[in-house]
Amino acid sequence: MRRQIDLTGDVAEILLTEDQIQGRVAELGRRISEDYAGQELTLVSVLKGSLPFMADLMRTITIPVRIDLMEVSSYGGTATESSGLVRILKDLSSSIAGADVLIVEDIIDTGLTLNYLIRYLRGKNPRSLRICTLLDKPARRLVEIPVDYLGFSIPDRFVVGYGLDYGEIYRNLRFVGVLRPEVYAD
Ligand code: PRP
Repeated sequence: MRRQIDLTGDVAEILLTEDQIQGRVAELGRRISEDYAGQELTLVSVLKGSLPFMADLMRTITIPVRIDLMEVSSYGGTATESSGLVRILKDLSSSIAGADVLIVEDIIDTGLTLNYLIRYLRGKNPRSLRICTLLDKPARRLVEIPVDYLGFSIPDRFVVGYGLDYGEIYRNLRFVGVLRPEVYAD
Protein backbone atom coordinates (compact mmCIF):
# COMPACT_ATOMS: atom_id res chain seq x y z
CA MET A 1 0.00 0.00 0.00
CA ARG A 2 1.23 3.51 -0.77
CA ARG A 3 2.59 5.29 2.31
CA GLN A 4 0.60 8.31 3.43
CA ILE A 5 2.59 11.53 3.07
CA ASP A 6 2.97 13.47 6.32
CA LEU A 7 4.44 16.79 5.22
CA THR A 8 6.17 17.76 8.46
CA GLY A 9 6.12 14.34 10.12
CA ASP A 10 8.25 12.86 7.32
CA VAL A 11 11.06 15.26 8.19
CA ALA A 12 13.72 13.72 10.45
CA GLU A 13 15.78 16.84 11.00
CA ILE A 14 15.49 20.55 10.30
CA LEU A 15 18.71 21.83 8.74
CA LEU A 16 17.72 25.47 8.27
CA THR A 17 14.84 27.09 10.13
CA GLU A 18 12.45 29.56 8.58
CA ASP A 19 14.10 32.38 10.60
CA GLN A 20 17.58 31.41 9.46
CA ILE A 21 16.45 31.34 5.84
CA GLN A 22 14.57 34.63 6.00
CA GLY A 23 17.48 36.36 7.79
CA ARG A 24 19.97 35.22 5.17
CA VAL A 25 17.66 36.07 2.26
CA ALA A 26 17.31 39.62 3.64
CA GLU A 27 21.12 39.93 3.85
CA LEU A 28 21.51 38.73 0.26
CA GLY A 29 18.85 41.20 -0.88
CA ARG A 30 20.70 44.04 0.86
CA ARG A 31 24.02 43.09 -0.73
CA ILE A 32 22.50 42.73 -4.18
CA SER A 33 20.76 46.12 -3.83
CA GLU A 34 24.08 47.76 -2.88
CA ASP A 35 26.12 46.02 -5.56
CA TYR A 36 23.69 46.96 -8.34
CA ALA A 37 22.78 50.42 -6.97
CA GLY A 38 21.80 52.80 -9.79
CA GLN A 39 21.27 49.90 -12.19
CA GLU A 40 18.36 47.79 -13.27
CA LEU A 41 18.66 44.11 -12.63
CA THR A 42 17.07 41.12 -14.34
CA LEU A 43 16.51 38.15 -12.04
CA VAL A 44 16.29 34.85 -13.87
CA SER A 45 14.83 32.19 -11.68
CA VAL A 46 15.23 28.51 -12.45
CA LEU A 47 11.95 26.73 -11.76
CA LYS A 48 10.60 24.95 -9.98
CA GLY A 49 12.85 24.68 -6.94
CA SER A 50 13.81 28.36 -6.75
CA LEU A 51 10.23 29.65 -6.63
CA PRO A 52 10.01 30.47 -2.88
CA PHE A 53 13.58 31.82 -2.80
CA MET A 54 12.93 34.04 -5.82
CA ALA A 55 9.66 35.33 -4.35
CA ASP A 56 11.29 36.21 -1.02
CA LEU A 57 14.57 37.50 -2.45
CA MET A 58 13.00 39.88 -4.97
CA ARG A 59 11.00 41.51 -2.18
CA THR A 60 14.13 42.22 -0.15
CA ILE A 61 15.79 43.95 -3.13
CA THR A 62 15.30 47.71 -3.15
CA ILE A 63 16.39 48.59 -6.71
CA PRO A 64 14.20 48.13 -9.80
CA VAL A 65 14.18 44.53 -11.00
CA ARG A 66 12.69 42.67 -13.93
CA ILE A 67 12.04 39.01 -13.55
CA ASP A 68 12.08 36.15 -15.98
CA LEU A 69 11.58 32.46 -15.42
CA MET A 70 13.20 29.43 -16.96
CA GLU A 71 12.39 25.84 -16.26
CA VAL A 72 14.95 23.16 -16.85
CA SER A 73 15.12 19.55 -15.90
CA SER A 74 17.88 17.04 -16.08
CA TYR A 75 17.33 14.07 -18.34
CA GLY A 76 17.05 10.75 -16.55
CA GLY A 77 18.93 10.36 -13.30
CA THR A 78 17.28 9.04 -10.17
CA ALA A 79 14.96 10.98 -7.89
CA THR A 80 17.85 12.13 -5.72
CA GLU A 81 20.67 12.43 -8.27
CA SER A 82 20.87 14.66 -11.32
CA SER A 83 22.19 13.27 -14.60
CA GLY A 84 23.85 16.38 -15.99
CA LEU A 85 21.99 16.40 -19.28
CA VAL A 86 19.80 19.46 -19.22
CA ARG A 87 16.57 20.04 -21.09
CA ILE A 88 14.91 23.45 -21.34
CA LEU A 89 11.22 23.11 -20.53
CA LYS A 90 10.54 26.85 -20.44
CA ASP A 91 12.75 29.47 -22.02
CA LEU A 92 13.13 33.19 -21.22
CA SER A 93 10.16 35.38 -22.17
CA SER A 94 12.23 38.47 -23.05
CA SER A 95 15.62 39.31 -24.47
CA ILE A 96 18.44 39.73 -21.94
CA ALA A 97 20.84 41.29 -24.47
CA GLY A 98 22.68 44.14 -22.73
CA ALA A 99 21.01 43.42 -19.38
CA ASP A 100 22.58 42.84 -15.98
CA VAL A 101 21.38 39.35 -15.17
CA LEU A 102 21.40 37.47 -11.89
CA ILE A 103 20.52 33.78 -11.98
CA VAL A 104 18.53 32.76 -8.91
CA GLU A 105 18.86 29.07 -8.00
CA ASP A 106 17.76 27.06 -5.01
CA ILE A 107 20.68 24.63 -4.91
CA ILE A 108 23.95 23.82 -6.64
CA ASP A 109 24.79 20.17 -6.40
CA THR A 110 27.04 18.75 -9.15
CA GLY A 111 26.96 22.16 -10.87
CA LEU A 112 25.98 20.58 -14.18
CA THR A 113 22.65 22.42 -14.47
CA LEU A 114 24.20 25.83 -13.91
CA ASN A 115 27.20 25.03 -16.06
CA TYR A 116 24.81 24.46 -18.94
CA LEU A 117 22.64 27.45 -18.08
CA ILE A 118 25.55 29.88 -17.77
CA ARG A 119 26.77 28.96 -21.25
CA TYR A 120 23.24 29.16 -22.62
CA LEU A 121 22.56 32.60 -21.11
CA ARG A 122 26.00 34.01 -22.02
CA GLY A 123 25.07 33.20 -25.60
CA LYS A 124 22.24 35.72 -25.29
CA ASN A 125 24.75 38.54 -24.70
CA PRO A 126 23.81 39.98 -21.31
CA ARG A 127 25.95 42.89 -20.06
CA SER A 128 26.77 40.92 -16.94
CA LEU A 129 25.83 37.51 -15.58
CA ARG A 130 26.11 36.54 -11.93
CA ILE A 131 24.84 33.69 -9.80
CA CYS A 132 22.87 33.66 -6.59
CA THR A 133 22.06 30.35 -4.91
CA LEU A 134 20.38 29.73 -1.61
CA LEU A 135 22.12 26.42 -1.02
CA ASP A 136 25.42 24.93 -2.08
CA LYS A 137 26.62 21.34 -1.65
CA PRO A 138 30.35 21.73 -2.42
CA ALA A 139 31.10 18.06 -1.68
CA ARG A 140 29.13 17.01 -4.77
CA ARG A 141 30.60 19.44 -7.28
CA LEU A 142 31.70 18.02 -10.64
CA VAL A 143 32.21 21.34 -12.46
CA GLU A 144 33.38 24.59 -10.92
CA ILE A 145 30.71 27.29 -10.69
CA PRO A 146 31.54 30.90 -9.81
CA VAL A 147 28.98 31.68 -7.10
CA ASP A 148 28.56 35.40 -6.44
CA TYR A 149 25.86 35.27 -3.74
CA LEU A 150 25.49 32.26 -1.48
CA GLY A 151 22.91 31.62 1.22
CA PHE A 152 24.21 28.50 2.94
CA SER A 153 26.79 25.85 2.30
CA ILE A 154 25.32 22.52 3.38
CA PRO A 155 26.60 18.96 3.88
CA ASP A 156 25.97 16.22 1.32
CA ARG A 157 22.51 15.20 2.46
CA PHE A 158 19.32 15.06 0.41
CA VAL A 159 17.26 18.04 1.51
CA VAL A 160 13.67 19.10 0.97
CA GLY A 161 11.57 22.16 1.71
CA TYR A 162 11.61 25.83 0.76
CA GLY A 163 11.24 24.84 -2.90
CA LEU A 164 13.16 21.58 -2.83
CA ASP A 165 11.21 18.41 -3.48
CA TYR A 166 11.24 14.68 -3.19
CA GLY A 167 8.92 13.21 -5.82
CA GLU A 168 7.51 16.76 -6.34
CA ILE A 169 6.30 16.92 -2.70
CA TYR A 170 7.60 18.92 0.29
CA ARG A 171 8.32 22.10 -1.73
CA ASN A 172 5.91 24.14 0.42
CA LEU A 173 7.70 23.54 3.72
CA ARG A 174 8.94 26.84 5.14
CA PHE A 175 12.22 25.28 6.35
CA VAL A 176 14.89 23.04 4.81
CA GLY A 177 15.10 19.58 6.27
CA VAL A 178 16.15 15.99 5.80
CA LEU A 179 13.55 13.24 5.29
CA ARG A 180 13.26 10.10 7.37
CA PRO A 181 15.02 7.17 5.63
CA GLU A 182 11.76 5.17 5.43
CA VAL A 183 10.32 7.84 3.10
CA TYR A 184 12.86 6.82 0.41
CA ALA A 185 12.32 3.14 1.03
CA ASP A 186 8.84 3.21 -0.55
C1 PRP B 1 17.59 20.97 -8.97
C2 PRP B 1 17.97 22.38 -8.57
C3 PRP B 1 19.03 22.76 -9.56
C4 PRP B 1 19.69 21.43 -9.87
C5 PRP B 1 20.99 21.35 -9.15
O1 PRP B 1 16.62 21.04 -9.97
O2 PRP B 1 16.88 23.26 -8.63
O3 PRP B 1 18.49 23.34 -10.72
O4 PRP B 1 18.81 20.40 -9.44
O5 PRP B 1 21.65 20.15 -9.42
P1 PRP B 1 23.05 20.07 -10.18
O6 PRP B 1 23.94 21.13 -9.61
O7 PRP B 1 23.53 18.68 -9.82
O8 PRP B 1 22.81 20.22 -11.63
P2 PRP B 1 15.71 19.82 -10.44
O9 PRP B 1 16.23 19.29 -11.73
O10 PRP B 1 15.55 18.85 -9.29
O11 PRP B 1 14.32 20.54 -10.76
P3 PRP B 1 13.30 21.36 -9.81
O12 PRP B 1 13.97 22.67 -9.49
O13 PRP B 1 12.10 21.54 -10.66
O14 PRP B 1 13.04 20.53 -8.57
